[in-house]
This record gives sequence, structure tokens and C-alpha cells, in this order.
Amino acid sequence: MVDVLLGLQWGDEGKGKIVDFLAKNYQIIARFQGGPNAGHTLYLDDKKVVLHTIPSGVFHPGILNVIGNGVVIDPVSFQAECEEIESLGVDLKACMLISERAHLILPSHKALDKASELAKGQQKIGSTLKGIGPTYMDKTGRNGLRVGDILKADFKARYQVLKDKHLQILNQPEWAEEIQSWEADFFKAIEALKQYQIIAAEYWLNEQLIAGKRILAEGAQGTMLDIDFGTYPFVTSSNTITAGLCTGLGIAPKWVGKVFGISKAYCTRVGSGPFPTELLNETGDQLRAIGHEFGATTGRPRRCGWIDLVALKYACMINGVTDLIITKADILDEMPEVFLCNAYSINGVQTQHFPYDIINDSIEPVYVKTEKWSKALSSCTNVDDLPEEFNAFTRLISDFTKVKVSFVSNGVGRHQLITL
Ligand code: GDP
Ligand code: IMO
Ligand code: MG
Repeated sequence: MVDVLLGLQWGDEGKGKIVDFLAKNYQIIARFQGGPNAGHTLYLDDKKVVLHTIPSGVFHPGILNVIGNGVVIDPVSFQAECEEIESLGVDLKACMLISERAHLILPSHKALDKASELAKGQQKIGSTLKGIGPTYMDKTGRNGLRVGDILKADFKARYQVLKDKHLQILNQPEWAEEIQSWEADFFKAIEALKQYQIIAAEYWLNEQLIAGKRILAEGAQGTMLDIDFGTYPFVTSSNTITAGLCTGLGIAPKWVGKVFGISKAYCTRVGSGPFPTELLNETGDQLRAIGHEFGATTGRPRRCGWIDLVALKYACMINGVTDLIITKADILDEMPEVFLCNAYSINGVQTQHFPYDIINDSIEPVYVKTEKWSKALSSCTNVDDLPEEFNAFTRLISDFTKVKVSFVSNGVGRHQLITL
């Protein structure tokens, strides 16, 4: 079977930590979309590690980690990430497999990402500028270069053709210079990439499934950033949802088992775009400060607000979530009261549906509240420790979404997780 773990909000829900925790139940961890725009944080005792393209199972001996065809790889940042993880004693050449069908992020894709954001001005997406959008555009536009191509004799020639196409679009000599200044590192990193196991991952994964192996598919970003169902156009360029694992790994739906959906106990977003429950006040600042809400990839401050059950229920529906995981519950320990949005008021009309035109509709969130936890979540170690106010909070979530809350995370550490 393949279980999937993915974010239900705008990313950064704590996927890295939870994959690292659940990894012991699986033989294979596989990333199926996204790329270096992701930043998945794990703690190995006190050591903090942030993974971008490498799956979050690499610190478990015996587990194999797959980078699927749906992922986009920037050879330069990938090389740096591999070197960092290898310096921690992980043999990535043995425990990591890369799909030959995964697309490559070229230096000119990063230039296009920058140029596109500059041109959008105030309307910019707030992209991580890692070249994600332009790379997926070339994939669907049938121009892209794939990992398997680096092993071909004509790779450099094909690189040149695509780069020339990009230079025509960019149409400024400065970009040509900038791209050229990145190329030496790019081609060095291509040589480094050749050292890893590049395989027909869809065949390999299906053979493993038939042999009874258990796979955990690790999502990146979150459902509200999904290209189809997120807050378009303020989204990323891939399918971040359960369906994305089928296309991003080559695994048929019949193999899909559990769907672990992660939500913070509140809500954050980094980059631009609609965020109905955003708190542009002291409470928002307090959540950011206590929750250390700064991007794991770009260091940007994350926008903060209360949990949005309307968006969460929508995300549970789209993904077929079987188990909810609530993270960062401890961050609300100091809040005098905790709010949950259970409806939107749009032009005076209440709805529990996530609207299509979220950009233009003026949405007033409608809240219910729970009282301050009578006991700090950070001090709880099992389900019987949890204060009644927090139990009321999780009940509101599961009653609204119709999905059970299976785990609560109450700290950064690997084992700070309570099974309900
Ligand atoms: P991801 O992208 O979904 O993997 O999440 P990030 O790593 O970008 O951001 C989540 C942040 O919250 C990281 O710094 C984690 O160490 C931290 N974190 C995860 N779960 C918890 C939790 O339950 N409590 C606290 N205090 N921090 C957590
Ligand atoms: P993880 O996996 C949070 C956001 C960016 C921007 C938008 C588009 O760590 O949860 P892109 O670079 O993809 O073109 O940016 O998506 N974004 C994320 N926000 N967590 C992420 O990943 C993100 N990956 C992209 O901030 O608003
Ligand atoms: Mg992150």
C-alpha cells in the first residue's frame, strides 16, 4: 500500500517532522511533487535539518527514499543539500533513488521566475524564486529537460536550445550575463547528479508494491497552494493533493491507503494571496513570535491567523483525508482564548463553502472560540494528559470536517507527538 502525508493549508504544516516520525512504519518514503521551494524541518535530537528536495526518511537506516517524476530538481541546490546530508553520515548514494523522468530546473528557469515576479509588481505571487513555475511550464509545454537526459550525449546541445528559447523571452542582455555566471556551477552539479541512482522509478515502485512493501508518499506545499484547487493564481505550479501522488510517482489509485492530512492548530501563509483568517494585529504578531513563523526556505516572515475550518474541510474533501494531524498545538498555550473560523460571510451571506473567486470576494470570517487551555500542551505526553479545552478544540475540528484527529504534535522533537 501507499499512504500519503500532505499539508492541508498553505504549506509549512510540519510535514517533515511527521514524516520523520511515521517513517519507521514504512520501507520507502517518496516525494511526488514540488522541488526546492519546499523546506521540511526535522530535529535529530537537538540538531535542526531542513530538507528541500530530499525525502524526509533519509535519517532512518534501512529506508529507501525516492524522488519521483513529479518533482522538479535544481541540480545546484540539490548538490549542496546532498553534501550537507552526507556530512551527517547518510549514504545518499545507497538510500536515495531518483526518477529519470523528474524535470530539471535550469539557471534560465530561475531567471524567468525572477523576471515574471518583477513584471507582476504589486501582484507578484511571492514565489520562492527557485524556478518552480517556469520549469513546470516547460514540462506541460513539452520543452523540458529531464534527469534521464543528463546521461545522453546531446544533453549540452538540448540545454542550449532551451536556454536560447528562454533568452528570447527574457529579451535583456543582463539576464544572459546572469545566467552565464550560474552555468559553471550548473554543469558541475549535473556531474554530481550522475553519481546518484537514476532509475525508472515507476517500475521500481510498482515492483515494491507487488512485493508487499509499504510506501509513504510525502507531499510538499499544501492544498491551498495546489494548482487546481488552491487560491489561484496565488499557488504553486503542481498538484499538491492526494491525486498528485498517482501522477507524480506512477502509482495507480487502487494502491492508495491512508491519507494523513496535516494542519497547524492555527494558520500561516508565506508569500502573497488571499488568507481569510489572517490576523494583522498583535495576536498575529504573537503567533509569529511564539511559533517562530519564518520561512524554512526563504526566511521570510509568515503571515499568521486562526485555523480556518472552511478551508480545512475543503482540503479534507479534495484529498480524501482519513486521519487528521494537528501540529504546533503547543504554540497556542499562551493564548488567552483560541478562535476557529467555521463560516465565511461574503457580502453579508454566510457560507461554509470555499469560494471560487476568493481573490475578489470580500470575506469576513465567522468564529467560534474555545477557552484558554487549562494545562500547557507542551507538558502533555499522552492522550489522558490533554486538557478539556483542547479536547473541545479537536472535537470542533473533527465534527466540522467529519474526519478524526489521529495525532497531535506538541513540540519540534521527533517524539513530541500524542496519539489520540
Ligand atoms: P513543513 O514544510 O510542512 O515540513 O514545515 P516547516 O518545516 O516549513 O515548518 C514547520 C516548523 O514548525 C518547523 O520549524 C518545525 O520544527 C516546527 N514544528 C513542527 N511541529 C511542531 C510542533 O508541534 N510544535 C512546535 N512548537 N513546532 C513544531
Ligand atoms: P513546504 O513544502 C510554504 C509558496 C510561496 C509562494 C507560492 C508560489 O515547505 O510546505 P513557488 O516558489 O512554488 O512558485 O511559490 O507558494 N510556497 C510555499 N509556502 N511552504 C512551502 O513548501 C512552499 N512552497 C511554495 O511562498 O507564495
Ligand atoms: Mg516548509
